Amino acid sequence: MSITIKTAEDIAGMRLACRLASEVLDYIAPHIKPGITTKEIDRLGAECMAQQGTISATVGYQPPGYPPYPGALCTSVNHVVCHGIPNDKPLKKGDIVNVDVTVITKDGWYGDNSRMYLIGECSIAAKRLSALTYDAMWLGIQQVRPGAHLGDIGHAIQKFAEGHGFSVVREFCGHGIGKVFHEEPQVLHYGRPGTLEELRPGMVFTIEPMINAGRREIKEFGNDGWTIVTKDHSLSAQWEHTVLVTETGYEVMTLSAGSPPLPAFVTATAT
Ligand code: MF3
Ligand code: CO
Ligand code: CO
Repeated sequence: MSITIKTAEDIAGMRLACRLASEVLDYIAPHIKPGITTKEIDRLGAECMAQQGTISATVGYQPPGYPPYPGALCTSVNHVVCHGIPNDKPLKKGDIVNVDVTVITKDGWYGDNSRMYLIGECSIAAKRLSALTYDAMWLGIQQVRPGAHLGDIGHAIQKFAEGHGFSVVREFCGHGIGKVFHEEPQVLHYGRPGTLEELRPGMVFTIEPMINAGRREIKEFGNDGWTIVTKDHSLSAQWEHTVLVTETGYEVMTLSAGSPPLPAFVTATAT
């Protein structure tokens, strides 16, 4: 297999899937406050997808070696790095949670994105980790243009994150996406400039850095087969967008009315 190049028609399908994936996050946003459980967030996400006529890419998703994933979305709280399974524990003031939503449209296109939510008043450390992880994702996005390399994205993210005393999770990465959830290429969130695949117009992939406040090592949590936590129990944050390589630069596809404001150093969602 190799990296798929999306046609104009494919890109139209991806724009819709990605906007709808972002709108699921908009839909649940006002409900995310102290007392809500992650199961309830999952229910709201599924309700929104039903209204849209999309389906969740995660329910029943089962890569080799994994049990079927049970949720309509992923909810990763505090030291959970990724793939947190929605449960009945209420969120409390000071928690940070990543909600990761992937939808499939009627035409079979996948849109994948995630955001961080702060539950009530959070510590300065938690706010800083979330905000700087958001900036790191955008610094990666700003590398995207024809002729750049995947290593440029990883390098930008790693340099920024480590420069702020954080660490980058290595075991999970961004990914090509289209009519397949996880396709080539792998998009590492660390690396060296000028290395790895050269970007070409029509490539679509996610950029989804997982950044830890402490050490980068992770471990599996419990025996659900999915939940990943930081080994040192430090906080972890993640943001995710699906991005198209255009003739001149990038187009961020997972945007909607409720998308958070851009970092000050970003001037455009498409270049
Ligand atoms: N949405 C995640 C990603 O960004 C994948 C979640 S797989 C699941 O690639 F099964 F855990 F939901
Ligand atoms: Co993804
Ligand atoms: Co995702």
